[in-house]
Amino acid sequence: SELHQLHRTAFHFQPSKNWMNDPNGPMFYRGYYHLFYQWNPYAAVWGNISWGHAVSKDLVHWHHLEVALAPDQWYDMYGCWSGSATFVNDGKPVLVYTGWSNVPSSPDRKVQMQALAMPADHEDPLLRKWVKAPQNPIVTAPEGIDSNFFRDPTTAWVGEDGKWRMLIGSQENMTGLALLYTSSDFLTWKRGSAPLHSVDSTGMWECPDFYPVPLLGKHGLNTSSNGKDVMHVLKVSCVYDYYVVGTYVTSNDSFTPVQADLDAGIGLRYDYGKYYASKSFYDGNKNRRILIGWVNESDAEKADIAKGWASVQSFPRMVWLDPHTNYSILQWPIEEVESLRKTKVSLESLPLGKEAIMQVKGIKGAQLEIDVDFQLPEQIQAEAIDVSASNVELICSEKGASRIGVLGPFGLLVLASDDLVEQTAIFFVIVQSKDGLKVLVCSDQSRSSLETNLDKTSYGSSYSLKGGQTYLNLHILVDHSVVETFALGGRVCITCRVYPTKAIDQAARVFVFNNGTVPVLVKNLVIWELADVLIDTL
Ligand code: FRU
Repeated sequence: SELHQLHRTAFHFQPSKNWMNDPNGPMFYRGYYHLFYQWNPYAAVWGNISWGHAVSKDLVHWHHLEVALAPDQWYDMYGCWSGSATFVNDGKPVLVYTGWSNVPSSPDRKVQMQALAMPADHEDPLLRKWVKAPQNPIVTAPEGIDSNFFRDPTTAWVGEDGKWRMLIGSQENMTGLALLYTSSDFLTWKRGSAPLHSVDSTGMWECPDFYPVPLLGKHGLNTSSNGKDVMHVLKVSCVYDYYVVGTYVTSNDSFTPVQADLDAGIGLRYDYGKYYASKSFYDGNKNRRILIGWVNESDAEKADIAKGWASVQSFPRMVWLDPHTNYSILQWPIEEVESLRKTKVSLESLPLGKEAIMQVKGIKGAQLEIDVDFQLPEQIQAEAIDVSASNVELICSEKGASRIGVLGPFGLLVLASDDLVEQTAIFFVIVQSKDGLKVLVCSDQSRSSLETNLDKTSYGSSYSLKGGQTYLNLHILVDHSVVETFALGGRVCITCRVYPTKAIDQAARVFVFNNGTVPVLVKNLVIWELADVLIDTL
Protein backbone atom coordinates (compact mmCIF):
# COMPACT_ATOMS: atom_id res chain seq x y z
CA SER A 1 0.00 0.00 0.00
CA GLU A 2 0.95 3.66 -0.33
CA LEU A 3 1.42 4.03 3.41
CA HIS A 4 3.95 1.24 3.42
CA GLN A 5 5.99 2.94 0.72
CA LEU A 6 6.27 5.93 3.04
CA HIS A 7 8.49 3.78 5.19
CA ARG A 8 11.08 3.35 2.48
CA THR A 9 14.27 5.14 3.39
CA ALA A 10 15.85 8.17 1.76
CA PHE A 11 19.54 7.58 2.43
CA HIS A 12 19.82 4.11 3.95
CA PHE A 13 20.77 1.49 1.41
CA GLN A 14 18.04 -0.83 0.22
CA PRO A 15 17.38 -2.88 -2.92
CA SER A 16 14.71 -1.80 -5.39
CA LYS A 17 12.41 -4.46 -3.97
CA ASN A 18 12.19 -7.76 -2.09
CA TRP A 19 14.00 -9.28 0.84
CA MET A 20 17.53 -8.38 1.93
CA ASN A 21 19.64 -9.55 4.85
CA ASP A 22 23.39 -9.53 5.58
CA PRO A 23 25.85 -7.16 3.90
CA ASN A 24 28.52 -9.19 2.09
CA GLY A 25 32.00 -8.55 0.71
CA PRO A 26 32.17 -4.76 1.08
CA MET A 27 35.33 -3.31 -0.49
CA PHE A 28 36.85 -0.32 -2.26
CA TYR A 29 38.23 -1.15 -5.72
CA ARG A 30 39.46 1.18 -8.45
CA GLY A 31 37.39 4.19 -7.48
CA TYR A 32 34.22 2.37 -6.43
CA TYR A 33 32.85 1.06 -3.19
CA HIS A 34 31.16 -2.29 -3.68
CA LEU A 35 28.39 -3.63 -1.53
CA PHE A 36 26.95 -7.09 -1.95
CA TYR A 37 24.05 -8.34 0.12
CA GLN A 38 21.94 -11.39 0.78
CA TRP A 39 18.96 -10.92 -1.50
CA ASN A 40 15.86 -12.80 -2.60
CA PRO A 41 15.26 -11.59 -6.19
CA TYR A 42 11.74 -13.03 -6.17
CA ALA A 43 9.96 -12.16 -2.92
CA ALA A 44 9.92 -10.00 0.20
CA VAL A 45 10.67 -13.00 2.44
CA TRP A 46 13.94 -14.89 2.94
CA GLY A 47 14.74 -17.50 0.24
CA ASN A 48 16.54 -18.09 -3.10
CA ILE A 49 19.47 -16.25 -1.61
CA SER A 50 21.67 -14.51 -4.17
CA TRP A 51 24.30 -11.81 -3.86
CA GLY A 52 22.78 -8.49 -4.86
CA HIS A 53 25.39 -5.95 -5.91
CA ALA A 54 25.63 -2.17 -5.80
CA VAL A 55 28.45 0.34 -6.31
CA SER A 56 29.05 3.86 -5.07
CA LYS A 57 31.70 6.56 -5.33
CA ASP A 58 31.05 7.80 -1.80
CA LEU A 59 29.25 5.06 0.21
CA VAL A 60 26.12 7.25 0.09
CA HIS A 61 24.93 7.39 -3.51
CA TRP A 62 24.49 3.84 -4.75
CA HIS A 63 23.83 2.28 -8.13
CA HIS A 64 22.31 -1.17 -8.42
CA LEU A 65 24.06 -3.69 -10.66
CA GLU A 66 23.04 -7.17 -11.76
CA VAL A 67 23.17 -10.06 -9.29
CA ALA A 68 26.81 -11.05 -8.66
CA LEU A 69 26.26 -14.60 -7.42
CA ALA A 70 23.15 -16.67 -8.04
CA PRO A 71 22.42 -20.21 -6.79
CA ASP A 72 23.23 -22.01 -10.04
CA GLN A 73 25.85 -24.64 -9.13
CA TRP A 74 25.42 -28.03 -7.47
CA TYR A 75 27.17 -26.77 -4.30
CA ASP A 76 25.11 -23.56 -3.91
CA MET A 77 21.79 -24.64 -5.42
CA TYR A 78 19.73 -23.52 -2.43
CA GLY A 79 21.54 -20.31 -1.75
CA CYS A 80 24.72 -18.23 -1.99
CA TRP A 81 25.08 -17.31 1.65
CA SER A 82 27.23 -14.76 3.40
CA GLY A 83 30.90 -14.21 2.76
CA SER A 84 33.66 -11.69 2.30
CA ALA A 85 36.06 -10.11 -0.16
CA THR A 86 39.85 -10.34 -0.01
CA PHE A 87 42.48 -8.73 -2.22
CA VAL A 88 44.92 -11.38 -3.45
CA ASN A 89 47.84 -11.20 -5.92
CA ASP A 90 48.47 -7.50 -6.63
CA GLY A 91 45.20 -6.31 -5.24
CA LYS A 92 42.83 -8.48 -7.25
CA PRO A 93 39.59 -9.11 -5.37
CA VAL A 94 38.08 -12.53 -4.77
CA LEU A 95 34.93 -13.52 -2.92
CA VAL A 96 34.57 -16.48 -0.60
CA TYR A 97 30.98 -17.34 0.34
CA THR A 98 28.95 -20.19 1.75
CA GLY A 99 27.12 -22.50 -0.63
CA TRP A 100 24.01 -24.19 0.72
CA SER A 101 23.15 -27.43 -1.02
CA ASN A 102 23.09 -31.20 -0.91
CA VAL A 103 26.24 -33.25 -1.16
CA PRO A 104 26.32 -36.58 -3.00
CA SER A 105 27.10 -38.40 0.26
CA SER A 106 23.94 -37.12 1.98
CA PRO A 107 21.40 -36.31 -0.72
CA ASP A 108 18.53 -35.66 1.74
CA ARG A 109 20.30 -33.19 3.88
CA LYS A 110 21.34 -29.64 3.01
CA VAL A 111 24.83 -28.69 4.08
CA GLN A 112 27.04 -25.63 4.10
CA MET A 113 30.39 -25.39 2.30
CA GLN A 114 32.66 -22.60 1.13
CA ALA A 115 33.10 -21.49 -2.46
CA LEU A 116 35.36 -19.05 -4.29
CA ALA A 117 34.45 -16.56 -7.02
CA MET A 118 36.69 -14.30 -9.12
CA PRO A 119 35.88 -11.27 -11.28
CA ALA A 120 35.46 -12.17 -14.96
CA ASP A 121 37.40 -8.99 -15.77
CA HIS A 122 39.68 -7.20 -13.29
CA GLU A 123 39.80 -4.21 -15.58
CA ASP A 124 36.12 -3.54 -15.01
CA PRO A 125 36.00 -1.28 -11.95
CA LEU A 126 32.33 -2.18 -11.53
CA LEU A 127 33.18 -5.89 -11.24
CA ARG A 128 29.88 -6.73 -12.89
CA LYS A 129 30.52 -10.38 -13.70
CA TRP A 130 31.79 -13.05 -11.31
CA VAL A 131 33.06 -16.51 -12.16
CA LYS A 132 32.85 -19.37 -9.69
CA ALA A 133 36.05 -21.40 -9.33
CA PRO A 134 35.98 -24.82 -11.01
CA GLN A 135 37.60 -26.23 -7.83
CA ASN A 136 34.51 -25.41 -5.74
CA PRO A 137 33.62 -26.21 -3.05
CA ILE A 138 37.01 -25.23 -1.66
CA VAL A 139 36.21 -26.08 1.97
CA THR A 140 33.71 -28.61 3.35
CA ALA A 141 32.89 -29.27 6.99
CA PRO A 142 35.70 -31.14 8.77
CA GLU A 143 35.35 -34.20 11.03
CA GLY A 144 33.42 -33.39 14.16
CA ILE A 145 31.77 -30.24 12.79
CA ASP A 146 28.09 -30.33 11.87
CA SER A 147 27.79 -29.18 8.26
CA ASN A 148 24.69 -27.20 9.27
CA PHE A 149 26.95 -25.01 11.35
CA PHE A 150 29.75 -24.14 8.99
CA ARG A 151 29.42 -20.82 7.28
CA ASP A 152 30.20 -17.13 6.67
CA PRO A 153 33.94 -16.93 5.83
CA THR A 154 35.74 -13.72 6.83
CA THR A 155 38.06 -11.56 4.79
CA ALA A 156 41.38 -13.43 4.77
CA TRP A 157 44.64 -12.00 6.12
CA VAL A 158 48.29 -12.96 5.85
CA GLY A 159 50.16 -14.30 8.88
CA GLU A 160 53.85 -14.18 9.77
CA ASP A 161 54.51 -17.32 7.71
CA GLY A 162 53.11 -15.65 4.58
CA LYS A 163 50.06 -17.91 4.52
CA TRP A 164 46.48 -16.79 4.21
CA ARG A 165 44.10 -17.21 7.13
CA MET A 166 40.35 -16.95 7.33
CA LEU A 167 37.68 -17.71 9.90
CA ILE A 168 34.51 -19.73 9.41
CA GLY A 169 31.64 -19.50 11.91
CA SER A 170 30.53 -22.66 13.68
CA GLN A 171 29.37 -24.21 16.94
CA GLU A 172 29.82 -27.47 18.82
CA ASN A 173 27.52 -28.35 21.73
CA MET A 174 26.44 -24.70 21.94
CA THR A 175 30.03 -23.47 22.13
CA GLY A 176 30.44 -20.73 19.55
CA LEU A 177 33.49 -21.30 17.35
CA ALA A 178 35.59 -19.16 15.02
CA LEU A 179 37.31 -21.94 13.06
CA LEU A 180 40.67 -21.03 11.61
CA TYR A 181 41.75 -22.09 8.11
CA THR A 182 45.07 -21.48 6.38
CA SER A 183 46.13 -21.59 2.74
CA SER A 184 48.99 -20.64 0.45
CA ASP A 185 47.01 -20.45 -2.78
CA PHE A 186 43.44 -19.58 -1.68
CA LEU A 187 42.21 -22.87 -3.17
CA THR A 188 43.49 -25.49 -0.77
CA TRP A 189 42.60 -24.70 2.83
CA LYS A 190 43.78 -26.51 5.93
CA ARG A 191 42.00 -26.41 9.25
CA GLY A 192 44.12 -24.82 12.01
CA SER A 193 45.03 -26.96 15.01
CA ALA A 194 42.57 -25.00 17.15
CA PRO A 195 39.80 -22.48 16.57
CA LEU A 196 41.03 -18.89 16.76
CA HIS A 197 38.49 -18.37 19.51
CA SER A 198 35.47 -20.01 21.18
CA VAL A 199 33.06 -19.17 24.01
CA ASP A 200 30.84 -21.67 25.81
CA SER A 201 27.06 -21.47 25.66
CA THR A 202 26.94 -18.73 23.04
CA GLY A 203 25.53 -20.91 20.23
CA MET A 204 26.26 -20.65 16.53
CA TRP A 205 28.67 -17.87 15.61
CA GLU A 206 27.36 -16.43 12.37
CA CYS A 207 29.23 -13.90 10.28
CA PRO A 208 32.50 -13.63 12.22
CA ASP A 209 34.58 -10.53 11.49
CA PHE A 210 38.21 -10.11 12.59
CA TYR A 211 40.27 -7.00 12.06
CA PRO A 212 43.10 -4.89 13.44
CA VAL A 213 42.63 -1.44 14.97
CA PRO A 214 45.42 0.94 15.96
CA LEU A 215 45.93 1.38 19.71
CA LEU A 216 45.82 5.12 19.10
CA GLY A 217 44.15 7.03 16.31
CA LYS A 218 41.07 6.82 14.16
CA HIS A 219 42.72 5.54 11.01
CA GLY A 220 42.02 2.10 9.64
CA LEU A 221 44.41 -0.77 9.09
CA ASN A 222 44.67 -3.30 6.31
CA THR A 223 43.27 -6.61 7.56
CA SER A 224 46.76 -8.22 7.52
CA SER A 225 48.34 -5.53 9.74
CA ASN A 226 49.64 -6.43 13.17
CA GLY A 227 52.25 -5.23 15.64
CA LYS A 228 52.71 -3.91 19.13
CA ASP A 229 50.55 -0.84 18.57
CA VAL A 230 47.71 -2.89 17.15
CA MET A 231 44.72 -4.50 18.83
CA HIS A 232 42.26 -6.88 17.17
CA VAL A 233 38.49 -6.87 17.17
CA LEU A 234 36.57 -10.13 16.88
CA LYS A 235 32.86 -9.77 16.14
CA VAL A 236 30.42 -12.66 16.09
CA SER A 237 26.69 -12.66 15.39
CA CYS A 238 24.76 -14.79 17.88
CA VAL A 239 21.31 -13.22 18.40
CA TYR A 240 23.17 -9.89 18.51
CA ASP A 241 26.44 -8.57 17.11
CA TYR A 242 28.92 -8.96 19.96
CA TYR A 243 32.52 -7.90 19.77
CA VAL A 244 35.59 -8.31 21.92
CA VAL A 245 38.91 -6.49 21.69
CA GLY A 246 42.04 -8.56 22.23
CA THR A 247 45.61 -9.16 21.22
CA TYR A 248 46.37 -11.45 18.32
CA VAL A 249 49.74 -13.18 18.10
CA THR A 250 50.31 -14.22 14.51
CA SER A 251 53.13 -16.71 15.17
CA ASN A 252 50.83 -19.12 17.02
CA ASP A 253 47.43 -17.70 16.01
CA SER A 254 46.38 -17.00 19.57
CA PHE A 255 43.76 -14.40 20.35
CA THR A 256 43.42 -13.16 23.93
CA PRO A 257 40.62 -10.83 25.00
CA VAL A 258 41.63 -7.77 27.02
CA GLN A 259 38.69 -8.38 29.35
CA ALA A 260 37.60 -12.01 29.79
CA ASP A 261 34.23 -10.91 31.20
CA LEU A 262 33.53 -8.99 27.97
CA ASP A 263 34.16 -11.94 25.68
CA ALA A 264 32.44 -12.48 22.34
CA GLY A 265 28.77 -13.37 22.74
CA ILE A 266 28.58 -12.27 26.38
CA GLY A 267 30.00 -8.75 26.52
CA LEU A 268 29.80 -5.63 24.38
CA ARG A 269 27.49 -5.09 21.45
CA TYR A 270 28.02 -2.92 18.39
CA ASP A 271 24.43 -1.81 18.69
CA TYR A 272 21.75 -2.34 21.32
CA GLY A 273 18.85 -2.19 18.88
CA LYS A 274 18.10 -3.91 15.59
CA TYR A 275 21.45 -4.58 13.97
CA TYR A 276 22.92 -7.91 12.88
CA ALA A 277 25.39 -9.81 10.71
CA SER A 278 27.53 -6.71 10.21
CA LYS A 279 30.79 -6.66 8.31
CA SER A 280 33.70 -4.25 8.27
CA PHE A 281 36.27 -3.49 5.59
CA TYR A 282 39.43 -1.47 5.28
CA ASP A 283 38.76 1.55 3.10
CA GLY A 284 42.07 2.23 1.36
CA ASN A 285 40.51 5.26 -0.29
CA LYS A 286 40.21 7.18 2.97
CA ASN A 287 42.39 5.05 5.24
CA ARG A 288 39.64 4.09 7.68
CA ARG A 289 37.66 1.04 8.74
CA ILE A 290 34.00 1.02 7.79
CA LEU A 291 31.23 -1.06 9.31
CA ILE A 292 27.86 -1.90 7.74
CA GLY A 293 25.12 -3.94 9.42
CA TRP A 294 21.78 -5.45 8.48
CA VAL A 295 18.79 -3.64 9.97
CA ASN A 296 15.78 -5.92 9.80
CA GLU A 297 12.11 -4.95 9.98
CA SER A 298 10.07 -4.75 13.20
CA ASP A 299 6.77 -5.39 11.47
CA ALA A 300 4.97 -8.63 10.60
CA GLU A 301 5.95 -10.75 7.61
CA LYS A 302 2.64 -10.01 5.94
CA ALA A 303 3.43 -6.30 6.13
CA ASP A 304 6.72 -6.97 4.34
CA ILE A 305 4.85 -8.86 1.62
CA ALA A 306 2.33 -6.01 1.33
CA LYS A 307 5.03 -3.39 0.96
CA GLY A 308 7.10 -5.63 -1.31
CA TRP A 309 10.42 -5.18 0.45
CA ALA A 310 12.16 -5.94 3.73
CA SER A 311 15.24 -4.58 5.49
CA VAL A 312 17.77 -1.83 5.02
CA GLN A 313 21.50 -1.59 5.68
CA SER A 314 22.74 0.67 8.45
CA PHE A 315 24.32 3.94 7.37
CA PRO A 316 28.06 3.15 7.03
CA ARG A 317 29.94 3.80 10.26
CA MET A 318 33.59 4.45 10.93
CA VAL A 319 35.01 2.27 13.75
CA TRP A 320 38.11 2.78 15.87
CA LEU A 321 39.39 1.93 19.35
CA ASP A 322 38.15 4.10 22.22
CA PRO A 323 41.27 5.96 23.43
CA HIS A 324 39.84 5.95 26.96
CA THR A 325 39.74 2.16 27.17
CA ASN A 326 41.64 -0.55 25.39
CA TYR A 327 38.66 -2.89 25.28
CA SER A 328 35.89 -1.00 23.47
CA ILE A 329 35.38 0.70 20.14
CA LEU A 330 33.74 3.90 18.96
CA GLN A 331 31.41 4.24 15.99
CA TRP A 332 30.35 7.31 14.04
CA PRO A 333 28.45 7.88 10.79
CA ILE A 334 30.90 8.38 7.93
CA GLU A 335 31.68 12.03 7.15
CA GLU A 336 30.08 11.70 3.71
CA VAL A 337 26.72 12.23 5.46
CA GLU A 338 27.64 15.93 5.30
CA SER A 339 27.04 15.89 1.55
CA LEU A 340 23.35 15.28 2.28
CA ARG A 341 22.91 18.24 4.63
CA LYS A 342 20.37 20.89 3.57
CA THR A 343 18.51 23.28 5.89
CA LYS A 344 20.00 23.64 9.34
CA VAL A 345 18.62 24.92 12.64
CA SER A 346 20.56 25.31 15.83
CA LEU A 347 19.98 26.57 19.33
CA GLU A 348 22.05 27.07 22.44
CA SER A 349 21.58 27.22 26.19
CA LEU A 350 17.98 26.15 26.36
CA PRO A 351 16.94 25.33 29.93
CA LEU A 352 14.58 22.38 30.34
CA GLY A 353 12.79 22.52 33.67
CA LYS A 354 10.72 19.77 35.17
CA GLU A 355 8.33 18.23 32.63
CA ALA A 356 9.48 20.58 29.88
CA ILE A 357 8.65 19.66 26.33
CA MET A 358 9.46 21.94 23.40
CA GLN A 359 9.15 21.52 19.70
CA VAL A 360 12.27 22.46 17.77
CA LYS A 361 10.97 25.07 15.36
CA GLY A 362 12.17 25.69 11.83
CA ILE A 363 12.85 22.11 10.93
CA LYS A 364 10.63 19.18 10.14
CA GLY A 365 10.60 15.99 8.23
CA ALA A 366 11.62 12.39 8.39
CA GLN A 367 15.19 12.80 7.03
CA LEU A 368 17.33 14.39 9.69
CA GLU A 369 20.72 14.42 11.31
CA ILE A 370 20.65 15.65 14.90
CA ASP A 371 23.45 16.50 17.29
CA VAL A 372 22.69 17.59 20.84
CA ASP A 373 24.67 18.10 24.06
CA PHE A 374 22.77 18.02 27.35
CA GLN A 375 24.59 19.80 30.15
CA LEU A 376 24.46 17.96 33.47
CA PRO A 377 23.79 19.91 36.70
CA GLU A 378 26.74 20.40 39.03
CA GLN A 379 25.16 18.21 41.68
CA ILE A 380 24.28 14.80 40.32
CA GLN A 381 21.10 13.43 41.87
CA ALA A 382 20.45 9.91 40.75
CA GLU A 383 17.66 7.45 41.39
CA ALA A 384 18.74 4.17 42.93
CA ILE A 385 18.17 1.73 40.09
CA ASP A 386 20.40 -1.28 39.78
CA VAL A 387 21.26 -1.83 36.13
CA SER A 388 23.05 -4.72 34.52
CA ALA A 389 23.48 -5.90 30.94
CA SER A 390 20.62 -8.35 31.49
CA ASN A 391 18.01 -5.92 32.86
CA VAL A 392 18.79 -2.65 31.07
CA GLU A 393 16.32 -3.20 28.23
CA LEU A 394 13.54 -3.99 30.70
CA ILE A 395 14.39 -0.89 32.75
CA CYS A 396 14.27 1.25 29.61
CA SER A 397 10.78 -0.04 28.86
CA GLU A 398 9.41 -0.01 32.42
CA LYS A 399 10.87 3.40 33.04
CA GLY A 400 10.04 4.81 29.61
CA ALA A 401 10.31 8.36 28.32
CA SER A 402 7.03 9.60 29.81
CA ARG A 403 7.76 8.62 33.41
CA ILE A 404 8.67 11.34 35.90
CA GLY A 405 12.18 10.67 37.15
CA VAL A 406 14.90 12.67 38.90
CA LEU A 407 17.85 13.36 36.57
CA GLY A 408 16.14 12.15 33.42
CA PRO A 409 14.42 10.90 31.45
CA PHE A 410 15.54 13.76 29.20
CA GLY A 411 16.26 13.63 25.49
CA LEU A 412 14.63 13.91 22.10
CA LEU A 413 11.39 12.88 20.47
CA VAL A 414 11.80 12.23 16.76
CA LEU A 415 9.25 11.20 14.13
CA ALA A 416 6.73 12.87 16.43
CA SER A 417 3.27 14.02 15.36
CA ASP A 418 2.07 17.51 16.38
CA ASP A 419 -0.20 15.99 18.99
CA LEU A 420 2.57 13.65 20.17
CA VAL A 421 0.42 10.54 19.84
CA GLU A 422 3.24 9.20 17.72
CA GLN A 423 6.82 9.67 18.87
CA THR A 424 10.09 7.77 19.11
CA ALA A 425 11.97 8.79 22.25
CA ILE A 426 15.74 8.68 22.62
CA PHE A 427 16.68 9.61 26.17
CA PHE A 428 19.07 9.48 29.08
CA VAL A 429 18.46 8.69 32.77
CA ILE A 430 21.18 8.99 35.40
CA VAL A 431 20.99 6.18 37.94
CA GLN A 432 22.87 5.09 41.02
CA SER A 433 23.60 1.45 40.41
CA LYS A 434 25.33 -0.93 42.85
CA ASP A 435 28.51 -0.54 40.85
CA GLY A 436 28.41 3.24 40.56
CA LEU A 437 26.77 6.11 38.71
CA LYS A 438 25.46 5.10 35.30
CA VAL A 439 23.94 6.76 32.29
CA LEU A 440 21.06 4.82 30.82
CA VAL A 441 20.73 5.33 27.09
CA CYS A 442 17.26 4.28 25.94
CA SER A 443 15.33 4.13 22.69
CA ASP A 444 11.61 3.89 23.44
CA GLN A 445 9.50 2.74 20.47
CA SER A 446 6.32 2.07 22.49
CA ARG A 447 4.49 5.08 21.00
CA SER A 448 6.25 5.14 17.65
CA SER A 449 3.16 4.18 15.64
CA LEU A 450 -0.60 3.97 15.96
CA GLU A 451 -0.34 0.71 14.07
CA THR A 452 -0.47 -2.40 16.20
CA ASN A 453 1.13 -5.71 15.29
CA LEU A 454 4.60 -4.18 15.40
CA ASP A 455 7.55 -5.10 17.58
CA LYS A 456 7.84 -1.96 19.74
CA THR A 457 10.38 -3.32 22.22
CA SER A 458 12.40 -0.62 23.97
CA TYR A 459 16.15 -0.87 23.59
CA GLY A 460 18.91 0.40 25.82
CA SER A 461 22.32 0.14 27.33
CA SER A 462 24.14 1.73 30.22
CA TYR A 463 27.50 3.39 30.52
CA SER A 464 29.52 4.42 33.59
CA LEU A 465 29.25 8.13 34.30
CA LYS A 466 32.79 9.41 34.50
CA GLY A 467 33.71 11.87 37.25
CA GLY A 468 34.07 15.30 35.69
CA GLN A 469 31.76 14.52 32.79
CA THR A 470 29.70 17.68 32.28
CA TYR A 471 27.54 16.92 29.27
CA LEU A 472 26.01 13.99 27.41
CA ASN A 473 25.92 13.85 23.63
CA LEU A 474 23.36 12.30 21.29
CA HIS A 475 23.88 12.06 17.55
CA ILE A 476 20.93 10.70 15.61
CA LEU A 477 20.12 9.81 12.01
CA VAL A 478 16.40 9.77 11.25
CA ASP A 479 15.29 8.22 7.98
CA HIS A 480 11.52 7.55 7.75
CA SER A 481 11.46 4.10 9.36
CA VAL A 482 15.00 3.92 10.76
CA VAL A 483 16.45 5.81 13.70
CA GLU A 484 20.17 5.29 14.32
CA THR A 485 21.46 6.70 17.59
CA PHE A 486 25.14 7.28 18.40
CA ALA A 487 25.23 8.24 22.08
CA LEU A 488 28.10 9.46 24.26
CA GLY A 489 30.39 10.16 21.33
CA GLY A 490 29.75 6.80 19.67
CA ARG A 491 30.19 4.68 22.80
CA VAL A 492 26.61 3.37 22.75
CA CYS A 493 24.72 2.81 19.48
CA ILE A 494 21.05 1.92 19.16
CA THR A 495 19.20 1.38 15.89
CA CYS A 496 15.45 0.92 15.67
CA ARG A 497 12.75 0.48 13.04
CA VAL A 498 9.51 2.41 13.44
CA TYR A 499 6.42 2.82 11.26
CA PRO A 500 4.61 6.07 11.99
CA THR A 501 1.22 6.65 10.38
CA LYS A 502 0.85 10.38 11.19
CA ALA A 503 4.42 11.53 11.86
CA ILE A 504 5.42 10.94 8.27
CA ASP A 505 7.39 13.06 5.80
CA GLN A 506 6.77 16.77 6.36
CA ALA A 507 4.38 16.04 9.26
CA ALA A 508 7.21 14.66 11.40
CA ARG A 509 8.49 16.93 14.20
CA VAL A 510 11.35 16.98 16.69
CA PHE A 511 10.91 17.84 20.40
CA VAL A 512 13.34 18.14 23.30
CA PHE A 513 12.01 17.06 26.67
CA ASN A 514 12.88 16.62 30.30
CA ASN A 515 10.66 14.44 32.47
CA GLY A 516 13.04 14.54 35.42
CA THR A 517 12.46 16.79 38.42
CA VAL A 518 16.00 18.16 38.12
CA PRO A 519 16.41 20.84 35.41
CA VAL A 520 18.88 20.19 32.61
CA LEU A 521 20.25 22.46 29.93
CA VAL A 522 20.39 21.88 26.18
CA LYS A 523 23.91 23.21 25.75
CA ASN A 524 23.63 23.14 21.99
CA LEU A 525 21.46 21.47 19.43
CA VAL A 526 21.93 21.26 15.67
CA ILE A 527 19.54 19.64 13.23
CA TRP A 528 20.08 19.26 9.51
CA GLU A 529 17.50 18.17 7.01
CA LEU A 530 19.06 15.51 4.83
CA ALA A 531 18.60 15.07 1.11
CA ASP A 532 17.24 12.05 -0.70
CA VAL A 533 19.60 9.64 -2.35
CA LEU A 534 18.20 8.20 -5.52
CA ILE A 535 19.41 4.65 -5.90
CA ASP A 536 19.38 3.97 -9.62
CA THR A 537 20.47 1.12 -11.83
CA LEU A 538 23.64 1.39 -13.87
C1 FRU B 1 22.94 -14.41 9.09
C2 FRU B 1 22.82 -15.61 8.17
C3 FRU B 1 24.17 -16.18 7.83
C4 FRU B 1 23.91 -16.87 6.53
C5 FRU B 1 22.92 -15.95 5.86
C6 FRU B 1 21.91 -16.64 5.02
O1 FRU B 1 21.84 -13.57 9.02
O2 FRU B 1 21.97 -16.58 8.75
O3 FRU B 1 24.68 -17.03 8.83
O4 FRU B 1 25.07 -17.03 5.77
O5 FRU B 1 22.27 -15.24 6.91
O6 FRU B 1 21.11 -15.72 4.32
